[in-house]
Amino acid sequence: MRPAFQWLLLLICQACLLNPATTQNVCPRPPPEDNTELIGGQLFFEPGTEISLSCSQGYSHSGGSRKITCKKNGEWTERFLQCSPKRCSVPESPQNGKAEFDKIVYKSVITFNCNNGYNLVGANSSTCLHTGQWSDPTPQCEPVLCGLPYIPPNAKIVYDKQFTGYTVPFSFGGKYECFPPMAAIGEQRATCTEDGTWTDPPECILVKCPEPSPIENGFLSFAESREYGYKEKVKYGCTHPYILDGLAEVECQETGSWSKIPTCKGINGTI
Ligand SMILES: *[C@@H]1O[C@H](CO)[C@@H](O)[C@H](O)[C@H]1NC(C)=O
Repeated sequence: MRPAFQWLLLLICQACLLNPATTQNVCPRPPPEDNTELIGGQLFFEPGTEISLSCSQGYSHSGGSRKITCKKNGEWTERFLQCSPKRCSVPESPQNGKAEFDKIVYKSVITFNCNNGYNLVGANSSTCLHTGQWSDPTPQCEPVLCGLPYIPPNAKIVYDKQFTGYTVPFSFGGKYECFPPMAAIGEQRATCTEDGTWTDPPECILVKCPEPSPIENGFLSFAESREYGYKEKVKYGCTHPYILDGLAEVECQETGSWSKIPTCKGINGTI
């Protein structure tokens, strides 16, 4: 052999002796991507190493292989693992309220509302957690309560229904009635409103009707010539041979006027 060729061989052999790791690339730890990640702390991987990726917290495997392999050039093979956010259960609406939501997957937030006249007791929103559970349970919608209503002087209240205790729920009500001869001015209906207060009560005032007027061919029986109070009654009659057209009894109304006064008509229909 010629010396130059020997030198060449020697150089080649020295290259052969070098550590293979320094001639090949290593793969760096694969970074988290598209909700996939590597569990464990290893930072570098030898070419040819196959590892399994996992879905990030709150996501679950929805397709594709978990495996990736470190290639000779120090890059990883393509990632195929697909991970989708976990689903939470369809939320229940509270009774007398509702749950509003768009999506119900990891990180979704739902909000709860109560109908008018109901107060929300509990959390007004809930978040879908990485476990697939809601962070907060469905709240309660409790009816707004009113205390007992104010009853103005000379009045009573007749409730729609009997109840016990000292509170009633929203929309419960009754009717104010003034003791005659007082009559109610204002709204007689009493209602527990959605803000927990009662509607305004009426005022009971003394109502008078004027002295009842006489009628032709008729008379007032048992009537004194005076003003009459609300709900007081007088009675009309007809002289013979006239007969009454209308109700004999008239009543003083809360407006301060009498109910319809009858007339006296002849037998043949003429007055
Ligand atoms: C929900 O409740 C929080 C406090 O608990 C409050 O700050 C927020 O305004 C409420 N949101 C709604 C929409 O009522």
